[in-house]
Amino acid sequence: MVYVSKPVVDIDRMPRGGPDASCLDRLLQTDQLEYLDRDDVDEDLKRSVIRALEWTGEFFGHTERFAQIVLDEVADVADPKILELGAGHGGLSRKLLDWHPTAELTVTDIEASSVRAMAAGDLGEDPRVTVREMDAVAIDAPDGHFDIAVFALSFHHLPPSTASRVFAEGTRVADKLVIIDLPRPPAPLHLVRLATMLPFTPFIPFVHDGVISSLRTYSPSALRALAAHADPAIDVELRGGLMNPQVVVATRR
Ligand SMILES: C[S@@+](CC[C@H](N)C(=O)[O-])C[C@H]1O[C@@H](n2cnc3c(N)ncnc32)[C@H](O)[C@@H]1O
Repeated sequence: MVYVSKPVVDIDRMPRGGPDASCLDRLLQTDQLEYLDRDDVDEDLKRSVIRALEWTGEFFGHTERFAQIVLDEVADVADPKILELGAGHGGLSRKLLDWHPTAELTVTDIEASSVRAMAAGDLGEDPRVTVREMDAVAIDAPDGHFDIAVFALSFHHLPPSTASRVFAEGTRVADKLVIIDLPRPPAPLHLVRLATMLPFTPFIPFVHDGVISSLRTYSPSALRALAAHADPAIDVELRGGLMNPQVVVATRR
C-alpha cells in the first residue's frame, strides 16, 4: 500500500515512534550513541560489532532474506546496477553477487576502516564490484545512476533531519531506495524485548548497540513522515515490522 503523509514541521523534534507516538513509546528512545557511531571507541571493538552483525546475518538468515528483497525489486532489470549504503561487512553485497550473474555492485560505508576491510577482501577483487567510502546523506553519484540503492540495518543511526536526507539522496541516485531496519514493536512489547537484552549490555558490545538501535529505530509513521519531509513527491511502501525487519521501498513520482 502507498501512503502519503503530511509534513512534520520540526522534524528533529519528532519522536522515533513518529508524530502519533504514545507517551510510553516517546520514553522508549535515547540520544545515546552506539559504539559504531563513536569516535572515542577502540577500532577493534567496533570491528567486533561489525563481525557479530555479519555472523548473525548469516546465522539467522537475514542476509539471504535481504538479498531476496533487493533482487525481487529489480527482477525486471537485466543487468542491475546496485548501490549498497552502510554495508559494514559487505555480506549482503556478497550474497547479491552470488545470486545474480550480471549485477554490478557499488559497496559503500561511511566508516573508513570498514571500507578498507571490504576492499582488502574478496569484494575488492571482484571485477563487478566497486568499494567506496560514501555518506548515505551525500551520495557521490549522478541522478538515476543506479537501479536500486539499499541501506540495511543502518537508518536508525541517523537523527531525523539527516535520515530524511537519505530518502532524498537515495531516490535521486536510484530508481528505487530500499531501507531495511529493525522493527519498532508496540511499546509494551518493545519494553519486554529491551528487558531481555539489558542485562547483557555491559558485557556484549553487540547487545549494547542492539539495545540502542532498538530505542532509535523509527516506526512506520516516522518513516512516512521522514520521506514526506524529504520530498512530498516520494512514495513509500512499507512492509513487515512487528517482529521482522521493516522494509521501506521508496520511489519518486
Ligand atoms: C549496524 S551497521 C549495519 C551493517 C550492515 N548493513 C548489516 O546489515 O549488517 C550500520 C552501518 O551503517 C554505517 N553508517 C552509519 N551512518 C552512515 C552514513 N551516514 N552513511 C553511510 N553509512 C553509515 C556504519 O558505519 C555501519 O557500518
